[in-house]
Amino acid sequence: MDQILNVLPTSKTAHPDMNVLKEIRKQSLENPEAFWQRFADELFWYEKNGPVYQPIDEPPYARWFPLWKTNISYNALDRNVSSWRKNKVALYWESEDGYRRTMTFYDLYKEVNKFASVLKSLGVSKGDRVTVYMPMIPELVVSLLALTRIGAIHSVIFAGFTSQAIADRVNDSCSKLIITSDVAYRRGKEIPVKDIVDEALRHTSTVEKVLVVQRGSGEVEMVEDRDIWYHDLMGSAESYVEPERLEGTFPSFILYTSGTTGKPKGATHGTAGYMVWSYFTQKLVFDVNDRDIYWCTADIGWITGHTYVVYGPLISGVTSLIYEGAPDYPRPDRWWDIVERYGVTIFYTSPTSIRMHMKFGEEWTKSHDLSSLRILGTVGEPINPEAWNWYYTHIGRQKAPIVDTWWQTETGGIMIAPQPGLAPIPLKPGSATFPLPGVDAEVYTEDGRVAAPNEKGLLVIRKPWPGQFMTLWGDPERFKSAYFTRFPGCYYPGDFAMKDEDGYFWLLGRADEVLKVAGHRIGTIELEDSLISHPAVAESAVVGKSDPIKMQVPVAFVVLRPGHMPSPQLRIELINHIRGTIGPVAAPESVYFVEKLPKTRSGKIMRRVIAAVVEDRPIGDITTIEDEASVDEVRRAYEELKMELRMRE
Ligand code: PRX
Repeated sequence: MDQILNVLPTSKTAHPDMNVLKEIRKQSLENPEAFWQRFADELFWYEKNGPVYQPIDEPPYARWFPLWKTNISYNALDRNVSSWRKNKVALYWESEDGYRRTMTFYDLYKEVNKFASVLKSLGVSKGDRVTVYMPMIPELVVSLLALTRIGAIHSVIFAGFTSQAIADRVNDSCSKLIITSDVAYRRGKEIPVKDIVDEALRHTSTVEKVLVVQRGSGEVEMVEDRDIWYHDLMGSAESYVEPERLEGTFPSFILYTSGTTGKPKGATHGTAGYMVWSYFTQKLVFDVNDRDIYWCTADIGWITGHTYVVYGPLISGVTSLIYEGAPDYPRPDRWWDIVERYGVTIFYTSPTSIRMHMKFGEEWTKSHDLSSLRILGTVGEPINPEAWNWYYTHIGRQKAPIVDTWWQTETGGIMIAPQPGLAPIPLKPGSATFPLPGVDAEVYTEDGRVAAPNEKGLLVIRKPWPGQFMTLWGDPERFKSAYFTRFPGCYYPGDFAMKDEDGYFWLLGRADEVLKVAGHRIGTIELEDSLISHPAVAESAVVGKSDPIKMQVPVAFVVLRPGHMPSPQLRIELINHIRGTIGPVAAPESVYFVEKLPKTRSGKIMRRVIAAVVEDRPIGDITTIEDEASVDEVRRAYEELKMELRMRE
């Protein structure tokens, strides 16, 4: 590994040794056993029995390190604490109001051990599910590591979600404990996190205890016999908890994500494969070393935060940074101020954030010395060349290469990206370049043929890889049908893609009814279900509309129930209804009232047709439509509101 990782970071002008990349990838696919054993050997294991890679007959077609035993928390903490890294900074934390906290690997180790002992004293044990709903504070990292230490399975819920979203996920995972905080801070405002949890708990029955971290003044209602302050228990906690020796395929966490039905999918990751993948990709793609100050801006509530804020950097022994608040608070240069003050060397964010900063203007970047940056990354959505060039010029000062990383909640870690830790790759703005070793990615046409160069098709992954999720929590049938039936034997991620004449991959957005709004993955059906749960709505259809910053925004078309009349107030009420049931990230840009929706003769809503109207594209083939007048209806509603808004401007 070291020999490979010593290769200098790629630069835009570097000449690639493509043969190195191709050769290593070929070895990894032909002999996964030997290839992954080599990287696994760099980590700590209690036992290394049996195969690294065990093919099985059904999805996901492999088990990774099934009989090996390890512990992720041990690898992230104890392994570093027993080396010279003991007093190295593991985390720099900065609150929105400017308070700073520094934790070494040893500090984190002590806190995690104590918290693991608290959890055990509350009866949490191996295999129990624990929901975590918290802002970006160090205790969130401590919670995750304490849970993996004792073999409890964490389910983190993004702190912007509503009480209903929490209740649904707690019920699905049957969590027995929730870890939360009193409040959170965003743009200087206090968010009543604990109240949101209290409301969720009115609709759940499995939760026995609620552990509350004090972030604010602590003035919240504590339910007797159920709610306990974190600090009250930490004082008397044991200082060491022996990590659980977990089998390779033991679940480490569940992370709920949107799919094409209303019910979120609980992507369930294992222990050993996920751990090796986070470590391997962290080194390969970010080329981290001991001098780096690494900053991934993602929230830990999403997979990017799990893998590249918590596990990847800590297992790799890297110093990383966590910032609690909004990127533009109190001023649009908050991020650049942080980069300058800490001397951040690697910076990983989303295209939406880059476009937002572009809108603020480069003058906000100019007063800051960003010369420490040596690698920039993006994730979550395709990056448009304009944003790529802005990032490269104004943030990277044309010195730092950009790693555009394609991956998903389900893949556990990065799958397609430049690999500065391996070999220099000349970059093409907008392309995530090449698959990593172990990733057998290809582009197929609808009918399962390998697409020709520059032919748009569907991305497939033809072989198992260590970071893959193992199942959907409590729903093995949906796991198979959603991901492994479209092209039998292959994993189907649900993305459009294209390979150009040089073999570069271009990821072209979702191929299913899932939207990407500011990098967040939102199923249109989830929004439709939310609208239908409002008493005024009989039917609804939600589609994505292109947006210059967020990439897509949802727009909704609704048919009202008899007795309800369209009105601007009702429109606002419906938007707020989605905010209240799913969360502000899902709020539609607008709601349009129609008499009927375009449907096929068998009654399926033709979202494709609605999307074409909204995007001002030709509506294509509508031979299966039940009533052509419904298209005019949609067009009329859309044009009328546009006109109304223009008049108001
Ligand atoms: O459509 C792809 C898009 O994000 C989806 C996965 O979303 P999620 O599970 O929320 O994980 C996001 C963070 C890993 C993918 O199916 N996506 C992610 N990265 C890229 C991307 N699309 C284009 N380019 C990317 N680099």
